[in-house]
Amino acid sequence: MPDRVSIRIDGELIHARLGQTILEAALAHGKFIPSLCHLKGLTPVGACRLCLVEVAGVGRLLPACTTPVQDGMAVTTRNEKLDRYRRMILELLFSERNHICAVCVSNNHCELQAMAQRLGVTHVRFPYSFPRAPVDATHRQFVLDQNRCILCTRCVRVCAEVEGAHVWDVGGRGIGSRLTCELNRSWAESRYCTSCGKCVQSCPTGALAAKGYAAEEMVKRTETISRLVEAKGARA
Ligand code: SF4
Ligand code: SF4
Ligand code: FES
Repeated sequence: MPDRVSIRIDGELIHARLGQTILEAALAHGKFIPSLCHLKGLTPVGACRLCLVEVAGVGRLLPACTTPVQDGMAVTTRNEKLDRYRRMILELLFSERNHICAVCVSNNHCELQAMAQRLGVTHVRFPYSFPRAPVDATHRQFVLDQNRCILCTRCVRVCAEVEGAHVWDVGGRGIGSRLTCELNRSWAESRYCTSCGKCVQSCPTGALAAKGYAAEEMVKRTETISRLVEAKGARA
């Protein structure tokens, strides 16, 4: 079986590797598909639904980050309906927690904020939930502010898949879901955290941050995670 397939993305014919996802194939050809839970090198989970695309002949929208390419596939990544859904998803994310950008350590380098600007979210039509979301500042180097968390689970995956420490998980249900540290320990009480900082670097918002940094300094280096995964793969 050939390991190369041909697909069309927004009408343009591109070649992809069998086993690649639509998102990976698109990114490899410099095509933008909105995403937040995706981080190159981590297992895709389809959590944020921003990357939903239309595939010809399929009666429902598919997440580009978890859908493998198939030969002859015709994918639409942008149209009025997809843009509308994506704006709605972002508005719901903003309304679910307390994203007060002006006092966030990630202001001006937050992926959620940048995505909203890029997709033209100018206001939120849904009532804000204003949940009482806790802040865990017990770790000597890092802070978890649940007010900014979008439950993308990048931190969960990087800690489990790259660091091998399995410190984070998601507990609760629905709108009450929260990031949890080792079955509800405080971060300082964690038995397995190595203080490597990978979770902080992979977090797209200000939910995880390093202590002692000004907003301008707290730029996340997500690409270092992807490079680390590539390097590990090369040695395997
Ligand atoms: S600092 Fe490293 S080991 Fe600790 S929770 Fe974050 S990724 Fe896991
Ligand atoms: S803390 Fe950050 S990386 Fe972890 S789930 Fe929340 S937003 Fe995502
Ligand atoms: S990037 Fe595909 S669902 Fe989040």
